[in-house]
Amino acid sequence: MDICYTIKDVRERVNAWKREGLTVGFVPTMGYLHEGHKSLMESARANNDKVVVSVFVNPMQFGPNEDLESYPRDFEKDSALCESVGVDLIFHPEPEEMYADGFCSYVDMNGLTGELCGKSRPIHFRGVQTVVLKLFNIVKPDRAYFGQKDAQQLAVIKRMVKDLNVDTEIVGCPIVREADGLAKSSRNTYLNPDERKAALILSRSLKLGRELIENGETDSNAVIKAITDSINTEPLAKIDYVDVVDFDTITPVDRIGKSVLVAIAVYIGKTRLIDNFIIE
Ligand code: PAF
Repeated sequence: MDICYTIKDVRERVNAWKREGLTVGFVPTMGYLHEGHKSLMESARANNDKVVVSVFVNPMQFGPNEDLESYPRDFEKDSALCESVGVDLIFHPEPEEMYADGFCSYVDMNGLTGELCGKSRPIHFRGVQTVVLKLFNIVKPDRAYFGQKDAQQLAVIKRMVKDLNVDTEIVGCPIVREADGLAKSSRNTYLNPDERKAALILSRSLKLGRELIENGETDSNAVIKAITDSINTEPLAKIDYVDVVDFDTITPVDRIGKSVLVAIAVYIGKTRLIDNFIIE
């Protein structure tokens, strides 16, 4: 497995693969890899000749009071996991490599980013889109793999690729959970033991919402209320949002039909966690 720190090095390797007619699967990450990332890498491994993983904590997608400085990092452990899955190349650039002096070009979107996480993280998706398009231009992947846990991000990237004619197939992969239901996330590491227990309220409340829908409820407000009431039973939880939106357009829906995303963001203590399910 190669580790590259510069754009030039990645391009040299990828161009050589492309000359041989090999396909490239790409998993963009911010590191501190867990089972969720592993499942993305395994899908990439199974469906492409070569697999590239980027490990880059992207400063541009963090707001001024967010956790950029404290975001967990462990590159040695990340490399070992990548190696165990059979990744061919890790791209691990410094911020200066990605954002050269005078950097001033961004990718932005008028739709999809105004709801859910976009409300409390107004610059987040601009940062995500910009870095993902840059990474796509560097790695030139045939397929790129994103987790459904960040469902809004997945929808935004799919839209960006469509709108800007990026020649990469976006593959969404299911949420990976701990045995007790908590969605895997690098940010789970911030939780102390009491908060870790309290965090189960997210998956439990979503399960309740899903059961309501499976039993015939089609009124979004009723589902939102049931999930909200359930989360509010946990004293350590503070709701950022509970919403029901169309999965493609990320706009609120009154009636639950197909392709609907039920998404929540909840603070457990100081840690903001997200989770969701999609009705296909
Ligand atoms: O999902 C993430 O880890 C990040 O948002 C991504 C896609 C790697 C862009 O920095």
